[in-house]
Amino acid sequence: MSHPRVDLIAGEARTAIAAARGASELEQARVRYLGRQGALTLLLRSLGTLAAGERPRVGAAANEAKRELEALLEARLAEARARERREARGRQRLDLTLPGRRPPRGSLHPLTLVRDRIVEIFAGLGFSVAEGQEIESDYNNFEALNIPRDHPARDMQDTFYFSEDTLLRTHTSPVQVRVMKAQPPPVRIIVPGRTYRRDVADATHSPVFHQVEGLAVDRNISMGDLKGTLALFAREMFGPGSSIRFRPSFFPFTEPSAEFDVGCFLCHGGGCRFCKQSGWLEIGGSGMVHPQVLKNVGYDPEEVTGWAFGMGIERIALLRYGIDDIRLLLENDLRFLGQFA
Ligand code: DAH
Repeated sequence: MSHPRVDLIAGEARTAIAAARGASELEQARVRYLGRQGALTLLLRSLGTLAAGERPRVGAAANEAKRELEALLEARLAEARARERREARGRQRLDLTLPGRRPPRGSLHPLTLVRDRIVEIFAGLGFSVAEGQEIESDYNNFEALNIPRDHPARDMQDTFYFSEDTLLRTHTSPVQVRVMKAQPPPVRIIVPGRTYRRDVADATHSPVFHQVEGLAVDRNISMGDLKGTLALFAREMFGPGSSIRFRPSFFPFTEPSAEFDVGCFLCHGGGCRFCKQSGWLEIGGSGMVHPQVLKNVGYDPEEVTGWAFGMGIERIALLRYGIDDIRLLLENDLRFLGQFA
């Protein structure tokens, strides 16, 4: 069934549909011919004005054209949508020739660098790494180390207690006790670890800090071995020209006891602000393991002797890198940490 008036509109509409590029132009064509004001719609609506004889032919032709154009639009629309999806996928495809984006490179924390260096130096001397527990018994932290009940270190001012006999270790020295109780001599250990004291944070204090403990127990171990070992450590850590000195001191778990200093590596002994004009930098405490401590762990002080030392890792990091505030080591500011890459 056809009719010239319908054919004219349908022909135009087919051309428009064929020429449309994409879904939105197809929609425009649909509106123009099949929309409420569309040419074909208006023709169908005007059937009543036609002569009665013409009405059925025009009506039938217009309805047929309408179905045909709707099907045509539907088909072209599906095609256009599929093409648009394909193109969108194409745009999203990875371009493997693009240069990669480099993730920022992390670096080790200065405390880790210092700890690793210390461990490396002592590993080279045959020491192995031991670790205890940060939550310690009062016995291991104090009692076994000859620190009596009334010792000021046990004061509530200094120690975080969980209960009468459980606490956060105030030093790495209890690991000496743990290791010696667990194995017979000889012992050569280096103990890096976290320690706690009830200090208010300021430029030189932090309630959480790190220590390294050293312990050597064997037959005929002497104070000379201690001094030679610490001198070698100082040269490795602070440079080949470094020297050390002992200052007589007291620790309940060593006899004799000595604090040890390294020659100031800024002024080389001449005296400067860094070493407070003394020419020396205080590094840690040390001494010969007290016979009572050896007895407490089941060793025979007539058979074996030993030396021990303990030092703060923060202190060494501050000295080595010229950092003037211990809090910088805890704040995790990437601008600070990035300088140690
Ligand atoms: N534990 C001591 C402190 O925290 C340091 C120390 C001194 C450790 C002498 C030792 C030592 O092993 O022999 O102050």
